[in-house]
Formats: sequence, structure tokens, C-alpha cells
Amino acid sequence: MNIQVFEDKNELYSTVAEYYINYINQKPNAILGLATGTTPIPLYKNLIQAYKNGRVSFKDITTFNLDEYIGLPQTHKESYYSFMRHQLFNHIDINLNNTHIPSGILEPNEAIKVYQSQLSKHQIDVQLLGIGSNGHIGFNEPGTSFESTTQITQLAESTIKDNSRMFDSIEEVPTKSITMGIKDIMMANQIIVIATGLNKADAVLKMIEGPVNESLPASILQKHSNVLVFLDKEAASKLTK
Ligand code: F6R
Repeated sequence: MNIQVFEDKNELYSTVAEYYINYINQKPNAILGLATGTTPIPLYKNLIQAYKNGRVSFKDITTFNLDEYIGLPQTHKESYYSFMRHQLFNHIDINLNNTHIPSGILEPNEAIKVYQSQLSKHQIDVQLLGIGSNGHIGFNEPGTSFESTTQITQLAESTIKDNSRMFDSIEEVPTKSITMGIKDIMMANQIIVIATGLNKADAVLKMIEGPVNESLPASILQKHSNVLVFLDKEAASKLTK
């Protein structure tokens, strides 16, 4: 793992954005794995600005998102379908036909089949990840098999609590998701992890220094040969090395 720690969050995000801009300019038809949640928002803002400044184009880019809540209509403001449109896709020149998000509204087995089949026809170049405070990646919660492929998962109590900040009440947070599996994530050529804030420090410590164990899903990333980790100093504060 290549780990970089930043004093300044703006610098962290502009560094990651520059990485993407260079990558896309070198490979305009790159296949990008994308994430939702709070973590990638400043990255997406930087990329939108770079697009508006004529520094990058997404017209030949293909994307695959990690996950989606089960049961939220696509029009719900917290669906990841909505999130991606509002935080990124509506503001850049991407062809929406080339964007893929697992379906939270199809019959679940059908949704799994459709997504796995789309994934199997593509090789993700760069997969972006945030990390849950409990060490989840995608919505693969602690205890998920490292061999998992696209699946329906029950969200952990801690995840429901973490994500309730986006909803009017905790009762409104969906309890299930459809997510790329851990094996799917590990298939990407390269993985970029961003973590900021003190509430990620324990998970970051275990991801980087802990044993590789299904109780901390992100620890599997130690076994991937090309992982770039971008941390602010709070998220890095418990690292010992
Ligand atoms: C989002 C995802 C999740 C988040 C994680 C961190 O698509 O797959 O694993 O990356 O829950 O969420 P935030 O960024 O909101 O702290």
C-alpha cells in the first residue's frame, strides 16, 4: 500500500483529483469504479471544476458504482442513483448509458444477475473506495467473505447509525443494500482509498496494520498489489508506523 497523509484536506482532494485528471487524459476510455457517501464529494467537485475548465473530458469514460440501497426509489434524494447524478454525472460530459449502478428496485436476485453480468464484461481500471467506521468497503460489512461477488447485504447497526445523518430519522435508513462483492473490488487494476476524520482512525489502523481478516473487510486491501491510500491527519492519527 502506498500511503499519503495530508495536513490539509483541500490538498488531499486536489492531489487525488489531479491523479484522476492525468489518468483520464492518458486513458480517455478508462473504466472507473466509483463510490458514494460523504468522502468522495470534494473529489467530484474538483473533477467537475476541471471539466468546466476544459482540463478533462469524461465522454468516453465508463463507470461502475459500488452499491445502492435496496428499496429506495431512484428519485429519493438519498438513493445512490440520485447521488451520482447530483454530485457528478449531471455536471460533466459523461454518457449516462456508460454509467452503471446496481439496482435497488429490481427483484434482488435479478438485480444481482444484471450487475454481475455487466461487471464481468469490463475490467475496472481504478476503483475508488471510502471506508466505513467499522471497516466496510462497498457495503460489505464485517464478516463478509473475501470471495463474495455482487450480493445483497444487511447493513450493520453502526452503518445505519452513521448514515442516518443523511435521512430525516434513523427509521428511514434502508437496512439492506446491493453491493459489489469483495472479490469484485479486488479485481480492479488499481484501488484508491480516501479516509478523513477521527471516526475512521480505528478502521484505517486495522486496514493498514491489522491482520487480514474478514472481521475487517478493508484489511483485504493489504493483499492487492496496487493500492493508493489518501488520509487526512485525523484518519491517520492511530497509525503506529
Ligand atoms: C459508498 C460505500 C461506502 C462508503 C463508506 C464511507 O458507495 O460504498 O463503503 O464509502 O460507508 O462513507 P462516508 O464517505 O459517508 O463516510
